Amino acid sequence: MPSTAVIGLQWGDEGKGKIIDSLSAEADMIVRFAGGNNAGHTVHVGNEKYVLHLIPGGILHAGKENIIGRGVVVNLDALIEEIDGLEERGVPVSERLFIDGRVHLIFPYHCQLDGLAESGRGKAKIGTTGRGIGPAYSDKVARTGIRLADALNAETFAELLANAMQEKNNLMRKVYGVEPENQEGLLEKTLAQVERLRPLVVDGGAMVRKAHSDGKRILFEGAQGLMLDLDAGTYPFVTSSWTGLAGVSGGAGFPPNRIERALAVSKAYCTRVGSGPFPSELDDAVGQQLRDQGNEYGATTGRPRRCGWFDAVQARYACSLNGLDGVFLTNLDVLSGFEELAVCVAYRFEDGTETTEFPGDLSCLSKITPVYKSMPGWSEDITAARSLEELPETCRAYVAFLEEQMQTTITTLSVGPGRDQLFECEPAGAPA
Ligand code: GDP
Ligand code: IMO
Ligand code: MG
Repeated sequence: MPSTAVIGLQWGDEGKGKIIDSLSAEADMIVRFAGGNNAGHTVHVGNEKYVLHLIPGGILHAGKENIIGRGVVVNLDALIEEIDGLEERGVPVSERLFIDGRVHLIFPYHCQLDGLAESGRGKAKIGTTGRGIGPAYSDKVARTGIRLADALNAETFAELLANAMQEKNNLMRKVYGVEPENQEGLLEKTLAQVERLRPLVVDGGAMVRKAHSDGKRILFEGAQGLMLDLDAGTYPFVTSSWTGLAGVSGGAGFPPNRIERALAVSKAYCTRVGSGPFPSELDDAVGQQLRDQGNEYGATTGRPRRCGWFDAVQARYACSLNGLDGVFLTNLDVLSGFEELAVCVAYRFEDGTETTEFPGDLSCLSKITPVYKSMPGWSEDITAARSLEELPETCRAYVAFLEEQMQTTITTLSVGPGRDQLFECEPAGAPA
């Protein structure tokens, strides 16, 4: 396997967890490069369901090295809870996990500030996961963040934390007019957590570069999705990191020109959690049917996901921006039972003009009307299909149409949450 990056093509929750788990079988090292415990990556193994938030999706495979790359922001409470949860279930995490010392830490004050910022936004709230992601990345950019490596030295860490807490306490009291949450014992608790994690702390970038030059197979695991990317997404309704291919190099410490393959995961329809533009959203019974059939509730927060038809304008934009070599199309089975399907192929502006390009001016996104191409659906259950030939003709035509619209090859189809409900389909090709 060439060094391969896998990113989310839409607004997150595309099924990256399942795909990363599957590709991990072919990899030696799996590196998460962005986000934090705002992510929820689901993996089903037999009857067991795992939801990974910070730990890379190769963790369920023996003999693989998993790295939390330096672009990730880490809440130590969440990380330790995740490690313990997996170890209790028999996964030897400590043997398989490494953490880059450069990761920035999320402290309770980041979570409190996340909530305060959201309340302050009123109707314009982003609908964050409340995990302190934005405030932690803000501190990183402002050069006031604290990294895991900084916490390895108790003395300097005590000073850094005291300074940070003083600044945040002032911010809360003087700007927001609220009392900071009680953080007594934070220093001691963090030092104990860091002591426990010390054997896992590495220079992740050096490790991954060495592994690559030793001929090891590297898999870079994305979090969130391209439309939540700080620069490419629907700003300001985005997360605070670079979720696309552009984020891999900085977030993993790996040269961009050594990333040999770029793949993305996309649902066969669209979902979004939180606020912000979603042109093909279905705020009706059809949307509810998608939510019910796809069990579309957040893996991290449990919030109902907003659902809508596949948006080819958005998907083509995401493909072109990332120069993708292929797309994994997931949740195709969820579309069984819809008499008619629709794909958004253009956006119509208020003056009646249309575009097939994703607009640079996001303010118009709330005003556009999606232009749909209708396609016949299929009624058959396709969860047992393991080849293109086993799919109904209308289903194959749907896949072929998405491929044509994205101008990118759909390499693999996923027809259920299970590990085995996946097959290669290249080339998708419409039935004759
Ligand atoms: P991620 O954040 O991209 O890893 O995706 P999530 O785990 O948040 O959400 C994807 C959901 O879809 C999870 O519940 C998966 O178990 C499920 N899933 C993944 N692939 C498929 C599929 O092909 N069909 C169905 N029905 N569910 C799938
Ligand atoms: P995975 O990796 C879906 C969304 C939040 C919110 C916005 C900003 O599971 O695909 P944040 O807490 O990051 O500041 O929230 O981004 N969001 C996600 N939506 N899947 C995710 O991750 C997400 N991570 C963040 O709902 O709209
Ligand atoms: Mg998710």
